[in-house]
Amino acid sequence: ILSHLHPQPEDQILKLTALFRDDPRPVKLDLGVGVYRNAAGQTPVMRAVKAAEKQLWQDETSKSYTSLAGDPGFHKVMRDLVLGDAVDHTRVAAAATVGGTGALSIALDLVKRAAPGATVWVSDPTWPNHVPIIGKCGLASNVYRYFDAENRAVNFSAMMEDLARVAPGDVVLLHGCCHNPTGANLTLPEWQEVARLLTQTGALPLIDLAYQGFGDGLEEDAAATRLVAAACPDTLIAASCSKNFGIYRERTGIVLAVTPDAAAQGVVQGNLAALNRLTYSFPPDHGARLVTMVLESPALRADWQAELEDIRTSMLGLRRQLADELRARTGSDRFGFLAQHRGMFSRLGAKPEQVARLRDEHGIYMVGDSRMNIAGLSPATVPALATAIAACGI
Ligand code: LMR
Repeated sequence: ILSHLHPQPEDQILKLTALFRDDPRPVKLDLGVGVYRNAAGQTPVMRAVKAAEKQLWQDETSKSYTSLAGDPGFHKVMRDLVLGDAVDHTRVAAAATVGGTGALSIALDLVKRAAPGATVWVSDPTWPNHVPIIGKCGLASNVYRYFDAENRAVNFSAMMEDLARVAPGDVVLLHGCCHNPTGANLTLPEWQEVARLLTQTGALPLIDLAYQGFGDGLEEDAAATRLVAAACPDTLIAASCSKNFGIYRERTGIVLAVTPDAAAQGVVQGNLAALNRLTYSFPPDHGARLVTMVLESPALRADWQAELEDIRTSMLGLRRQLADELRARTGSDRFGFLAQHRGMFSRLGAKPEQVARLRDEHGIYMVGDSRMNIAGLSPATVPALATAIAACGI
């Protein structure tokens, strides 16, 4: 029976990690998978997370099960972090999940139960795992135009044109901040227009919020999500703690479902718990507990925010440095978009053969669509990247 299975396509992002590891050259640069690295090339455990872990090790008396939807304390801190006061809290159902990917999967399972015929619209391009997850959940997908490849910016009029055609009850998947893979984001007034259009078409927004705090700041990066949630009768949010708490391998995420009223909240809450039960029974607790401890303690929270802010501003500095170095080498401003983009990624706009040349001739690894992880750079490696980009005629 098992011999009837089909070989699976390689994951384009994770394949790169293996290629990089196997490259014997002493000087090489990994700008592939979305993991933050400091100037020393390390992905450190954040100070506040380490302190919470130490305290948890001392204080934790049991590792018995929590509840199917996870710890209510985690729901509360994450609801506050993501939604603030944008909606009445009695309308919000929540479930801890296995990372942001688990949150997307459970959210789409919920959609499948509520609207089995719904089509999920994703930006063109989007994170390469979105469409396969939608398919795994038994839903159809389609794309709305998003990226203007020529200017490396959002093609907002095309996006709005396509979203106007979305049927009532369809789902629109939006990147709450720090668009992955392009780095190009909507302005707040544009988000307002999107929210208005969603209420007109009756589409359900599903917001993927994986990089809160990596763009313009914790509050600023949540502004679009809050605006959409306040405008629409229901909104699904898949939030990840992997990046902003640096707890990638702990697999910590949450689904927040903003429902029309408290009665609907109860039913949605029951469905989220049931979906967790069917998928993995209880969600993992360790990472969720660390996040709760950090956000509940004023001292740990302040230290976490300070470190997160350092990470964010270091990425902005790298963006500016790269844009400047490229201006100096090419004598043009055509890479100015790098300083405008936000988050971990920017799509450089290189052709596949140029991406291959960067790898083969310069030991620089980026995803085939020329997505670069800015956090894989350091002030010391930016000049080499700029030289290589110019040498490859990009
Ligand atoms: C990425 O886009 O590189 C990250 O979200 C990691 C992943 O799982 O793909």
